[in-house]
Amino acid sequence: MLPSLFLATTAATLATAHTVITYPGWRGNNLHTNEAWPYGMQWQYPCGGINLTTNRTYWPTTGGALAFQPGWFQGHQNALLYVNIGVGSDGPDGGPINMSNPLLPPFQLLGPSNGPFPGTVCLPQVPLPVNWTMNPGDNATLQIVEIAMHGASLFSCVDITFAAPGDPRIPEVNESNCLNSSDLGFANIYSVTTTPIGAAANMNVNGASSFRVAAWLGYLPVLVGAAWLLI
Ligand SMILES: *[C@@H]1O[C@H](CO)[C@@H](O)[C@H](O)[C@H]1NC(C)=O
Ligand SMILES: *[C@@H]1O[C@H](CO)[C@@H](O)[C@H](O)[C@H]1NC(C)=O
Ligand SMILES: *[C@@H]1O[C@H](CO)[C@@H](O)[C@H](O)[C@H]1NC(C)=O
Ligand SMILES: *[C@@H]1O[C@H](CO)[C@@H](O)[C@H](O)[C@H]1NC(C)=O
Ligand SMILES: *[C@@H]1O[C@H](CO)[C@@H](O)[C@H](O)[C@H]1NC(C)=O
Ligand SMILES: *[C@@H]1O[C@H](CO)[C@@H](O)[C@H](O)[C@H]1NC(C)=O
Ligand SMILES: *[C@@H]1O[C@H](CO)[C@@H](O)[C@H](O)[C@H]1NC(C)=O
Repeated sequence: MLPSLFLATTAATLATAHTVITYPGWRGNNLHTNEAWPYGMQWQYPCGGINLTTNRTYWPTTGGALAFQPGWFQGHQNALLYVNIGVGSDGPDGGPINMSNPLLPPFQLLGPSNGPFPGTVCLPQVPLPVNWTMNPGDNATLQIVEIAMHGASLFSCVDITFAAPGDPRIPEVNESNCLNSSDLGFANIYSVTTTPIGAAANMNVNGASSFRVAAWLGYLPVLVGAAWLLI
């Protein structure tokens, strides 16, 4: 399936890319930290601080390609990646009210270092959720969530309009806009059940005096604060 995407072209445009979602498009540059976004825009659910846009790109009704650059910030030597879709216009910005529909199982990205790194990820055929049917002209938003090593999440979106496969308005997918860099790796995510539901053990805490001390300490700052108010 892949070689057909890899036309005989150069990848020279990669170096000049300033976007995070490189295909099929991006809501806009949200790599900002400023007075309005002191923690950085991208941490803001659902789309990294950028509201719904109207300059949509076309994307196939059968699902399509998605490419992005995951390494613009430090802290992603390992990252978890989620790809979701939202539909409808019930959100406060007139977009989807949620992005709670996964398009892929989450996967892990293995980056070359914990600093910022270049490189792109290309998912050539991201499907729609099982049993979803979208029609040409329907609007939706694709969301990429990147979970950093400390558990916080970075959000980026692209607003799309569905089009029939082969519609010339769908931007071409090729090796310069959809490519897996060789310095990035991937891993599947597994979980191992250690305690099935209903089997949780509880240590006997009745005699554990440290529990009461901890609870009491929890109130202490409140009391101190109240005392200050009385002075
Ligand atoms: C939409 O416009 C914004 C602002 O000009 C731009 O940053 C963004 O890349 C555009 N998105 C698409 C999909 O063309
Ligand atoms: C899709 O969004 C565009 C603006 O981005 C709007 O003009 C159009 O009416 C919307 N289509 C539907 C079916 O809601
Ligand atoms: C996004 O839309 C919300 C709801 O309309 C609005 O309160 C907010 O100011 C908008 N944010 C930006 C950055 O335009
Ligand atoms: C998410 O959005 C969809 C589409 O608008 C809606 O049908 C669904 O009920 C929403 N789910 C939640 C949990 O809000
Ligand atoms: C990039 O790697 C991902 C994860 O292994 C894979 O699903 C995808 O097909 C690859 N893309 C290309 C263009 O080979
Ligand atoms: C998809 O539709 C089929 C046929 O109606 C149904 O059997 C199946 O359970 C559905 N799958 C999901 C995940 O909804
Ligand atoms: C790849 O496709 C894009 C449109 O998505 C186009 O602008 C670009 O020129 C193409 N690049 C090559 C090398 O064909």
